Amino acid sequence: MTVLTASPANPDTVRRDLLDRYDGRAPRYTSYPTALEFSDAVGPGAVTDWLSALSPAERISVYVHIPFCKRLCWYCGCNTRAVRNTRLISDYVAGLADEMALVEATLPHKPAVGAIHLGGGTPNMLSRDDLGGLFRALRHVFRVSPGAEVAAELDPSVLTRDWVRAAAFHGLSRASLGVQDLSPHVQAAVNRIESFEVVENAVGWLREAGLASVNLDLMYGLPRQRTQDVLATLDQLLTLRPERFALFGYAHVPWARPNQRLIADADLPGPVERLEQSDAAAERLVADGYVRIGLDHYALPQDPLAVALRDGSLRRNFQGYTADPHQTLIGFGASAIGRLPQGFYQNDATELGWRRRVRAGELPVVRGVALTDEDRFRGEIIETLMCHGEADLTAICGRHDRSPAELEPERRRLTAFAADGLVRVSDNGLRVTPLGEPWVRSVAQVFDRRSGEGSRFSRVV
Ligand SMILES: C[S@@+](CC[C@H](N)C(=O)[O-])C[C@H]1O[C@@H](n2cnc3c(N)ncnc32)[C@H](O)[C@@H]1O
Ligand code: SF4
Repeated sequence: MTVLTASPANPDTVRRDLLDRYDGRAPRYTSYPTALEFSDAVGPGAVTDWLSALSPAERISVYVHIPFCKRLCWYCGCNTRAVRNTRLISDYVAGLADEMALVEATLPHKPAVGAIHLGGGTPNMLSRDDLGGLFRALRHVFRVSPGAEVAAELDPSVLTRDWVRAAAFHGLSRASLGVQDLSPHVQAAVNRIESFEVVENAVGWLREAGLASVNLDLMYGLPRQRTQDVLATLDQLLTLRPERFALFGYAHVPWARPNQRLIADADLPGPVERLEQSDAAAERLVADGYVRIGLDHYALPQDPLAVALRDGSLRRNFQGYTADPHQTLIGFGASAIGRLPQGFYQNDATELGWRRRVRAGELPVVRGVALTDEDRFRGEIIETLMCHGEADLTAICGRHDRSPAELEPERRRLTAFAADGLVRVSDNGLRVTPLGEPWVRSVAQVFDRRSGEGSRFSRVV
């Protein structure tokens, strides 16, 4: 007699089925509420009040946005543009110093700064003189603490040894280099030609200057990219042993970024291929000794990011995953975002508009959101899930003086995720399972009272 048993479902079939059913879009939750919820209800007046209430005891972080690049990569989602004229960049740095003077006038004291992040765009488009001018302005307005972390996002193909030395003189301690993919056919499909040797030299100069932390940015889901391209790129870069890798899934949002319209939809890998690429890269990185951090970061076990994951202090902010413990961030430059205990704010994203406002003597803030108690409560759940893949809801409710019964609607919505094996729900909280990891943004979205579901976001997978 033949006994018929149910054969276990093929793991690939299960995932394909999940990809079909959870083929959604969701925010990346680098903040809650997300930047799409910012409105003109917050402007220069509110932010002046918020800045003037800054506590003298608080150490803060500073972000400076540099919206210039040598060329525009077609996939790029950052607020930047290609420039040749270096005078434009010097004028912009002069504008940053003016903006810092405006902020200084609102501050009740000279705040201590524990972390400075230069982002972009490409901060190494600044000449060494402009870099010096920027740090003079920063040190005039802030007390940069000894041992402060100074980080910069750098384009290796624009980097020089002299620039690295100058930046190290100003305190550069951590650098993040853009690489994405080293395969010539992928580079041609995104207008970014960059050889391994260029990256190798850049890492060498950063090491020579004594930087203890180097990150390399990679991307998957790029046009014409295949899993073997991702792995071949990793094989070369792993020889450089950077402390961190970021592995970003290409966010294709051509309605918001016109340069992405140069990428043909037909050239893009689908969700199945994207998942295969990110899984293969994750496997290779973990096999090589890197610890997986949240959605898209990998770090060597002794790196502060991996330490923060272990001790529970990992945070998520506009720069992604971070070990930066500061609660307050003051942002400078076009489109820069700041975070104060009272809420988030964003500067005018256009360089002209930003400059005009600064020249007129007003803070160039055009939008933001004041945080309610509800936002802080939901923000903690979402950030905890995005960082650790689990959340102790009872403990978070306790910290915010709320009854766990308030989360009954969310628990009901999670039953579908639980039935599909994407999360495990207990009396106290929930945990995203290994199967559910690619959908952590969708799980976090269950707790989002503001954004709703919409086509404005990038695909979850
Ligand atoms: C400011 S750029 C890096 C520094 C420098 N400009 C460079 O490209 O070498 C930050 C990173 O964002 C990532 N990125 C840019 N556009 C993206 C998109 N549409 N989707 C996902 N990641 C993106 C890339 O990995 C890029 O290296
Ligand atoms: S990826 Fe970097 S270099 Fe390329 S356009 Fe974006 S910010 Fe500029």
